[in-house]
Amino acid sequence: MQVFLNGSIVEHVDASVSVADRAFVFGDGIYEVIRVVNGKFFMENEHMARMDEGLAGLKIHLGDDQRGQIPDIGRKLISINGLKKGQAKVYIQVTRGAAWPRTHTFPEPPVDPTVYLAAESFTPHAELHKKGVDTITVSDVRWSRCNLKTVNLLPNTLAKQEAKERGVNSAVMIRDGVITESPNANIFGVKNGVLRTYPASNYILNGITRQAVITIAEEEGIDVNLQPIGENELFEMDELFFTGTTTDIQPINRVNDRNIGTGKPGSVCKNIQKIYNAKLAGDE
Ligand code: PDD
Repeated sequence: MQVFLNGSIVEHVDASVSVADRAFVFGDGIYEVIRVVNGKFFMENEHMARMDEGLAGLKIHLGDDQRGQIPDIGRKLISINGLKKGQAKVYIQVTRGAAWPRTHTFPEPPVDPTVYLAAESFTPHAELHKKGVDTITVSDVRWSRCNLKTVNLLPNTLAKQEAKERGVNSAVMIRDGVITESPNANIFGVKNGVLRTYPASNYILNGITRQAVITIAEEEGIDVNLQPIGENELFEMDELFFTGTTTDIQPINRVNDRNIGTGKPGSVCKNIQKIYNAKLAGDE
């Protein structure tokens, strides 16, 4: 696979960054993952706007030229890696750059940000989308700026690993008695036909798929209540599902071995899945 690193396109095995890179020593960077279907970037503007918010949040200054070129570099990688047909994803990472010696404050004078992009083929989890998945609850121990898509993902990777070791697909994270999101997706509940999800705030990543689902709900006349789901309400939900760029719309059957609703994918989730898949495929 050919990747882009700091102005050059190289084989991924030949791409390396400095040990002084601020992402290596401080986790000082942001990333994005964009879904690509038959060469078309799904909700590209929304992903790029969130990337800009992340850069602004971390005070990483990328030149206008460099910033402007990112989507086209992604398209070039899709093309040269033979991914123009079918499903793929583009990964973008921007860090504050490499600076020696290691100091917590930003490098002075500023250094060039590290810009890295990769493209890979992607296989949707079609079987899981149909059957649904089991989950566990974990405590959401992340910082309070989860709206920034930074590469500081340790709480997320530990939660996902815990889920794996306990034989389930993923985790439902809980902060202050309410459900926030999963380690790599947002969470929606359904109660009496109304959607419930955590409001866009500093305690969740405002997922692009989450935004797409809210738009679908508006189009379909489904009410969305942005009141977080309490831990004590979890098992009163008729349905529960994840949303994310690589998760799509994923029904949740069980949490901590207890059924959500019937313990099978519900009709509201299935309907949203159908409409979302059509949008992803560019059918509407
Ligand atoms: N994860 N919440 C978290 C914590 C996430 O990491 C993600 C995405 C989402 C869903 O956001 P979106 O719909 O924009 O993909 C919510 C990406 C895919 C990842 O880390 O690979």
